[in-house]
Parts: sequence; C-alpha cells; structure tokens
Amino acid sequence: MFVIGGNASKSVAEDLSKKLKTPLATMISKRFPDDECYIRLGTDVSGEDVIIVQTTYPNTNIVELLLIQDAVVEAGAENTTVIIPYFGYSRQDKKFEAGEPISARAIAEHISLHADCIITVDPHKGHLLDFFMVPAYSCSAVAEIAQYLKKQDIDFVLAPDKGAIKRAQQASDIIGCKYDYMEKTRIDGTTVKLQPKNLDAENKKVAIIDDIISTGGTMAQSINELKRQGAKKVSVACTHGLFVGEAKEKLLSAGCDEIISTDTIENEFSKVRAAPCIAEILLKKLH
Ligand code: R5P
Repeated sequence: MFVIGGNASKSVAEDLSKKLKTPLATMISKRFPDDECYIRLGTDVSGEDVIIVQTTYPNTNIVELLLIQDAVVEAGAENTTVIIPYFGYSRQDKKFEAGEPISARAIAEHISLHADCIITVDPHKGHLLDFFMVPAYSCSAVAEIAQYLKKQDIDFVLAPDKGAIKRAQQASDIIGCKYDYMEKTRIDGTTVKLQPKNLDAENKKVAIIDDIISTGGTMAQSINELKRQGAKKVSVACTHGLFVGEAKEKLLSAGCDEIISTDTIENEFSKVRAAPCIAEILLKKLH
C-alpha cells in the first residue's frame, strides 16, 4: 500500500503516511510553459492499494488529481481510495437559478471515474457524498478544532449561521461551555447580513466556528457583533481556510484575536491537523 500526496495536500498525506505506517510514493510534478500540469509517479504501484490525497481547490488541483488518478490506473494499481481534504465547488451543491450546473456533482462524477472509494472532511452539506458514483464517506475535524480551542480557555462558542449549529454544539460539548447561533442572509458572494440578536458574550472568550472561511465576510460581521456586545476575546475557527483576497485583513480589522484553521487547505493559520479524523475512518475501513 502507498500514499500519494498531491501538491495541495502534502501535510495531510505525510501525516497519513506516518499514522498508517504506509510509505509515501514519490511523484514528480511540473508545469509546462503553458501552465498545463505534468505528473509522473516515481514509485511502482502495480498491484498495490493506493491512497491519493488531494484537495480540489483551486482549479489546477482538480486537474492534478485527475492526472494522478489516471497515472495510478495506468500503473495497474489494485484499488484506489481518494482522500479529498477540502472538496472545492461544494457550495454549488444545487441549482440556485435555472441554467446553472450542479458544480459539486460535476466534479464528484469525474473524480469517481477512477476511484473505488472517496473520503472527504467536513463536507459543506451531507448530501454531497451522494454525488460520487462510488462509496463516499466523510469525517469531521471539529473535535480536533475543539481540543485546540479548549486549550485557549474558550468559554463560549458561536455558529455564524444556522448551517454551523451542529459544529458549534459539538465543539461546545467538548470544550464544556455554552453555544449560540446567528441568523445570516447572504446578499451576494462577498456580502452577508446578520439578524441582530442578544448573545451571552459579555466578558467571554468566544470562538466562532464554521466549515469554511472564504472572503471572511461572515466571520467579520459576527466578530463586530460579539465585540459590540462586550466579548473579551474573539477567535475564529474553521476546517477549510480559503482566506480569499483581503480576508485576513478583514478579520483582523474587525478585531479578531486569533485565526485558526486545519490543513485541509494549507495556510499560515493551519494550527490543527486534519489527518487524525481521516486516519480513524481509513483504519476502520482497512480492518
Ligand atoms: C456558508 O454557508 C459557509 O458555511 C460559510 O459560512 C461561508 O462559505 C463563508 O464565506 P465568507 O467567508 O465569504 O463569508
């Protein structure tokens, strides 16, 4: 058995290789002058079970994943498990307007062509797993994030919208504190509006928890509200830290005291590892 780490997911692949006591296959990866992707496996995976790890964000990493999968099939691997730490395109999980694609399904179906099994972390919605044409499973990094927050003495957890309530509840159970949620309306890709609400946040060290931080708009609004209501410290935590454009500056200027994400997308705030929850599900599958 071998683990192959795509360029988007080196740290998760290395962690999994250690946890599963399974070697990392070598892979050369280059760009042609026109920016097309070139990959070549340096390890013979013929007849082997292979675990490919690659986040499907941004677009070039989707192409790289499809090429790795093809190389693995060409090499004659016995079985391929694809780990997608962050499944990009997951927010277009339905047709919001006539004429739109179901983007998450389009990507999932292509990945399924050369996979026997898929595992992803904290998918934006549970039904995304149904878009894959092979058995697909999810695991959650919320427990790992909560353990980190517990060490920071967080004493209140906030979900910035209804979609994040379960995560906030699970994190608050682990930390041993209260949680609450905000009601959010999305105006467009970068603008959100929060319903005013009294939160029990005065003098509290609060963590706002969500699956994704993209532009930082959702979190920035929640930080403003918490600070207005007297929170002593506000941290933001997510599984998937995209931090698009000026997201970091937006969060800091809103008064954010700490930014935390996992390494499903490797970034400067990847303080929590995603591999433990993936390894758990893989080990169950292997035994
Ligand atoms: C949406 O439902 C997600 O859970 C996040 O709240 C959203 O993707 C965050 O986006 P942004 O950081 O751009 O506000």
